[in-house]
Amino acid sequence: MMNKITVDEGQVKVEIPVYDKVSAKAPVFYNPVMELNRDLSVIALQVYQEKQGRDIRICDAFGGSGIRGIRYSKEISGVECVVVNDLNPLAVEFTKENIRKNGVENVRASKEDANILLRQCRGKFDVVDIDPFGTPSPFVESAATSLKAGGLLCVTATDTSALCGTYKEPCVRKYGAMPLKTEYCHENGLRILAGFISRTFAKYKKYTTSVFSHSTEHYLRIYLEVGKGAKRTDDSLKNLGYIAHCPKCLHRMTIPGLAPQIPTKCPKCNGTLKVGGPLWLANLMDSGYVKRMLDLLPTEVNTYNKALKLLERCYEESFGPATFYDLHKVCKVLKTSAPPITDVIEKLHEEGYFASRTHIKPTGIKTNAPVETIKEIILSLRG
Ligand SMILES: C[S@@+](CC[C@H](N)C(=O)[O-])C[C@H]1O[C@@H](n2cnc3c(N)ncnc32)[C@H](O)[C@@H]1O
Ligand SMILES: [Zn+2]
Repeated sequence: MMNKITVDEGQVKVEIPVYDKVSAKAPVFYNPVMELNRDLSVIALQVYQEKQGRDIRICDAFGGSGIRGIRYSKEISGVECVVVNDLNPLAVEFTKENIRKNGVENVRASKEDANILLRQCRGKFDVVDIDPFGTPSPFVESAATSLKAGGLLCVTATDTSALCGTYKEPCVRKYGAMPLKTEYCHENGLRILAGFISRTFAKYKKYTTSVFSHSTEHYLRIYLEVGKGAKRTDDSLKNLGYIAHCPKCLHRMTIPGLAPQIPTKCPKCNGTLKVGGPLWLANLMDSGYVKRMLDLLPTEVNTYNKALKLLERCYEESFGPATFYDLHKVCKVLKTSAPPITDVIEKLHEEGYFASRTHIKPTGIKTNAPVETIKEIILSLRG
């Protein structure tokens, strides 16, 4: 007999085998740190279902214990069916038992390689959730074939060392993009992922619009609505481009296009620019979508405070530009200590700029002000 423990999350209780530590080697994978990810997923999918105004079909392609898919069935209204799939036979056994124990009759367990399942279910799903170990890159194209036009793709990536630029080669291999290790590298990571997904979907004349995304703990998570049509796909690909960053003065610029002229020298200080891309330069958040997620966030979830703070920051930053400044990094260049971040933001507002915090970094400021203005404001607050 295998020793089991019961996990209580959202409105469900699931059993999993006892494990020593969270690891891909656990008999059935369950990570308590991902509770926030699942809580946010439930409301993101609820917003999507509301927008559709009809019952939706969901594929949880990497189901583990089944907790995510079972929560989708139990906590989202308007769900026609959920397929919870996993390649690990023991995970599927536990999923079946967890489905039975939670009395969710519209959930079915499947034991298949995710790519094969998704290819077999061409155009069948409204929502596909990709939550593998490490990179989602080998599964995105299959998701493109299985999603209906008007569908929603949800992707988790835990290979942040590649996407955020600690290691360049794996990012080039997996995402066909050069990462950019900067103080806003996690946002760049989300943009590389969004860009890779849009290029992959484009092969099928499908385009993607990111409605919500976040960088939390060790992972990146993104939600994209899918549309269809050659012309719209061509137009959408115009949102791809590059970011050039000056490590010396912290000036940065976005350069749209797949083969644009990219300057090598900083126009402000003549320093050598570092370049990342191709990546997604347009919005990573839809403010209306995030606002509705805020409305729907249930006070009963265990992660309520964290989820609320994250969504509030995401809402604010949804109106901002593609990168952010790190207050401490700017102060380091200025060789001064940091004033309160709220004072800097207030001054930026007074001068007529957009300025907000970002969920990615407590010391991050999203603003359309040039770096010289931020520096002047910091020095005036110090003086
Ligand atoms: C990160 S876990 C999923 C966790 C789950 N979504 C949750 O929220 O608890 C990844 C799962 O994918 C399964 N897996 C790995 N490769 C797979 C493949 N090619 N096809 C289907 N499942 C796979 C693993 O057995 C593991 O259970
Ligand atoms: Zn410069």
